[in-house]
Amino acid sequence: MEGPGHAGRRRYAHLNSESTELRALVQKITDLPTLPVMMATITRLMQDPRTSAEELGRAIASDPSLVSKVLKLVNSAFYGFPGHISTITQAIVILGFSTIRNVVLTTSVLKAFGRNSGHKGFNVESFWEHSLLTGAIARSLALEREANFAEETFIAGLLHDMGRIVLSQKISGEFEKVIAHREKHGSSWIAAETAVLGLTHGEIGGWLARKWNLPAPFIDVMHWHHQPIDYLGIEPAPNNDTSNLVFMVHAADAMAKGLKDGKIDLASTAEIHHLVRRSLKLEEAGWDSLERRAADEIEKARAFLDIL
Ligand SMILES: [Fe+2]
Ligand SMILES: [Fe+2]
Repeated sequence: MEGPGHAGRRRYAHLNSESTELRALVQKITDLPTLPVMMATITRLMQDPRTSAEELGRAIASDPSLVSKVLKLVNSAFYGFPGHISTITQAIVILGFSTIRNVVLTTSVLKAFGRNSGHKGFNVESFWEHSLLTGAIARSLALEREANFAEETFIAGLLHDMGRIVLSQKISGEFEKVIAHREKHGSSWIAAETAVLGLTHGEIGGWLARKWNLPAPFIDVMHWHHQPIDYLGIEPAPNNDTSNLVFMVHAADAMAKGLKDGKIDLASTAEIHHLVRRSLKLEEAGWDSLERRAADEIEKARAFLDIL
């Protein structure tokens, strides 16, 4: 990814090491969906500065099931290109390598964890709805702050809770214990996961993202969106793009939970860490315009769920 820098992650790399609890838990996963070989090919081609749009386009076009989905997305209102894009190579020339990589990545993940699979205690539809709202609100925040990584913020928001879907679908025995704990104690998901598993869906998501070789900012958001300050270790330095990305998704996650009829419910924003609130200058006074922008972004982003 060309956008966010990774200074925070490098400095606090030890925080990403796998705990004993995590190792024990992920050993129980026997059938984790792999990302298509295509993703590895794209990553390799993108690392080579000599790769042309035609070459990358040919690689993607070798998977016809992907082509129609990618073209549908790049022609959606989300990317807002005025004409019609009819080939992958044209899409790469117009939208750039990293955008197309993100589209292919998202398409692959959505296909791997689509609508039809799921545990009875886990509503896949509302999971993706929450993910979409989080992505769209995070993107709105990035646009309001004139950040140059609005698109990455959306994808990161869309994927932020992947650890939850892995837990419910691939480690369902443990997931049932988490549900039982929640019902008995009336606790939050995070508290129940911590009590039962000794870790949260953030760590599971971070593990998955590393296993899938996702770009570093996505790994960080999936891992740290509930612990934005632990991620950073210190109060954020201005202009640290990756920490801003983690912060924006952290805030958008809480806002998405409280979004009703286009309005952000105050109570839900209590979950936003006060340092994140301060760093992003989240003041209620500015929410009207954020809500308006978010409504627009949510509509545009619906194209992503259409490919599920
Ligand atoms: Fe989460
Ligand atoms: Fe979430």
